[in-house]
Amino acid sequence: MTEKDFRSSYDEVLPSEGKVSWKAPSNIALIKYWGKKENQIPANPSISITLDACATTTSVSYSRKEEASQFSFDLFFEGKVKEDFKPKINTFFGRIEAYLPFLKQYHFKIETSNSFPHSSGIASSASGMAALALCLMEIERRILPNMDTMFFKRKASFLARLGSGSACRSIEGDLIQWGRHERLTDSSDLYGVTYPFKVNKIFSNFHDAIMLVHKGQKQVSSTVGHDLMHGHPYATTRFAQAHSNLDALEQILAKGDMEGFIQLVESEALTLHAMMMTSNPYFILMKPDTMEIINKIWAYREATKTPICFTLDAGANVHVLYPESVKEKAIQFIQDELVVHCENGHYICDRAGSGAKKLIAQNT
Ligand code: DP6
Repeated sequence: MTEKDFRSSYDEVLPSEGKVSWKAPSNIALIKYWGKKENQIPANPSISITLDACATTTSVSYSRKEEASQFSFDLFFEGKVKEDFKPKINTFFGRIEAYLPFLKQYHFKIETSNSFPHSSGIASSASGMAALALCLMEIERRILPNMDTMFFKRKASFLARLGSGSACRSIEGDLIQWGRHERLTDSSDLYGVTYPFKVNKIFSNFHDAIMLVHKGQKQVSSTVGHDLMHGHPYATTRFAQAHSNLDALEQILAKGDMEGFIQLVESEALTLHAMMMTSNPYFILMKPDTMEIINKIWAYREATKTPICFTLDAGANVHVLYPESVKEKAIQFIQDELVVHCENGHYICDRAGSGAKKLIAQNT
């Protein structure tokens, strides 16, 4: 589908009011999106596991206005008015207005909350933008009730991407690819698609225990981070590497090659951080406890041959990944050895999930 396919215009009379509600999960990338072009087009394809527990729930109440002059909305985060989120939503509305022409016709009340603590250092932009995009699509579906389900999901992913790139991977589960890649003819820079190739069952129900090493605000916002890839000395090589890693992952997932998986996923995580360390300006986002956790995972894996590995996002927290078959051992290891490196001993046990869910909003 092309960008034009997502543009709408309606002859229908718009409903006067109502309320919609969606819950969207976070996701963790195995092959990282780092670097983008204009209009939220990724510099390379990425693939992620959709999570289950870490999620944002958003309700949008809408009431038609007399005059459609500008965007108007109230925003509540965890029950409280949240003025500082408003500019981000305004920018988002500006980017998606061409695709949802009803936006200026309504006043919205947006109520949102996260399942994970606000100060956990877990980025809520993926789940938050996905949940909001889905709510807006639900409103569009009320205007156009014959909308095809596939179109609904694709357009929700397309809109979510315009809010935050990785959010387009938070609509469906459990392995999602975003970004054009030769081998996957259905792939697109505009939205995420479910990974179509064979995946061995040892990779189903994968677990992700998130070690909250540092709960503060991110040292480098993703906008700044992506920007650092412009003029980066290793950018071209990195973007090509993401493509070849996607090729390699196909066989790894099909054959159930756990060793290959671990090697590829850890290398991707370290490459992401290597890109930050070698950009101008440069950053080190790992903390001493991040390194301690990584070293302990390596030592434990070597000693016990248990297939536990890690990945990182653009921060100090460590995502500990392991298959369902070793979950008891993994939790024991985390409790015995890793928890001491988490801020206040906090960590979140999450796992692969099936994607966003529509909730029944009262007053619909
Ligand atoms: C390191 O999606 O947060 O988590 O498009 O600017 O909102 P924006 O960036 P964002 O970047 C995520 C980067 C990452 C890797 C990934 O999720 O693929």
